[in-house]
Amino acid sequence: MSVYQATTSAPVNIACIKYWGKRDTKLILPTNSSLSVTLDQDHLRSTTTSRADPSFEKDRLWLNGVEEEIKEGGRLATCIREMKRMRKELEDKDASQPKISSYAVHICSINNFPTAAGLASSAAGFAALVSSLAALYSLPASPSELSRIARQGSGSACRSLFGGYVAWNMGSKPDGSDSYAVEVAPREHWPDMHALICVVSDDKKGTSSTSGMQRTVETSPLLQHRIAHVVPARMEAISAAIRARDFDTFARLTMQDSNQFHAVALDTDPPIFYMNDVSRAIIALIVEYNRVSVANGGKLKAAYTYDAGPNAVIYAPKENLKEIIELIIHYFPQAEPFKDPFGLFGAAGVQGKLVEGFNPAVAKSFGVGAVKGLIHTRVGDGPRVLGAEEALLGANGLPK
Ligand code: DP6
Repeated sequence: MSVYQATTSAPVNIACIKYWGKRDTKLILPTNSSLSVTLDQDHLRSTTTSRADPSFEKDRLWLNGVEEEIKEGGRLATCIREMKRMRKELEDKDASQPKISSYAVHICSINNFPTAAGLASSAAGFAALVSSLAALYSLPASPSELSRIARQGSGSACRSLFGGYVAWNMGSKPDGSDSYAVEVAPREHWPDMHALICVVSDDKKGTSSTSGMQRTVETSPLLQHRIAHVVPARMEAISAAIRARDFDTFARLTMQDSNQFHAVALDTDPPIFYMNDVSRAIIALIVEYNRVSVANGGKLKAAYTYDAGPNAVIYAPKENLKEIIELIIHYFPQAEPFKDPFGLFGAAGVQGKLVEGFNPAVAKSFGVGAVKGLIHTRVGDGPRVLGAEEALLGANGLPK
């Protein structure tokens, strides 16, 4: 008897031009376009195995070892239903295809990073779910077509269907058919883009993106200005900067857009604060680091960006990462030695050196644990189809 099963992995993406606001909450259609960099799956990824079998009684899903309910009409159910519909279309067109669209599926997914780190796991998760079902069903669909389905799981997930530099065009049609992700440039175009994720300790329960952004849509006049007058020009300008590998412009726009996203959060009634004192201190450090460079006749050397939580992501060309890691560790001592995946530091390790001319008074030093982890990664590729040896479901169709 044939086994119908596929395993794929999908990457995390971090936006430079932020998605914040829906014009349709069911179809997940945004109020503005957005643009992100896909991060390397060698460091951060979601892996998913999907299997269709006539003996399965119902669709089931396990996330990091725990079974999740697939609520009727919910985001998971929508993605699974849409993928089955595409498989059914294929079977109707091609009679030689086995009729597996009517079978229930078992889906098992894991992240290789802790959910508690507050990294956007839903984007990688829904992208891995959709790509594993696409592989299971041998769908001839393009990444943009699949992104339309991943979008209905979590908006930002649609951008994880591509590697490199990715735009999510908001579209204008009420049915969402023109709201999908496209590649702006593959990672090979600008492989030098590195990222340092600063995992900031957070003890309060934050406002989720989903509920936070709808409150912003309902109450923030600044958001309306952003949608109509700011984002369209920024999307054009940052796409051109990526095509020209112009880091200075890329960095300026990325920081401006992070600032404006947090400004519309503050403009929400009641206000939403995602950054904390540690987040703001990291902004001060990057601003000063760039100031020193510009004062010496250079250009911007790093860009910060923050999502719906206090973690910082710092984008920079590879050559600057050593200085940036020294800088962050100077102010935020680490409990564990820095994991150095690119071998930047020799046996002596990180010393906490500041660049010449840096004004140390721009921020105070924090204690161990304020930044509880640093992840050095870079721009990466899109979803990968993995071999059977990486499968997460055992022969009995349950998690291994
Ligand atoms: C701040 O994609 O998590 O990270 O569509 O409701 O699932 P839903 O929201 P989500 O929002 C991400 C918001 C952001 C900005 C971004 O990634 O563009």
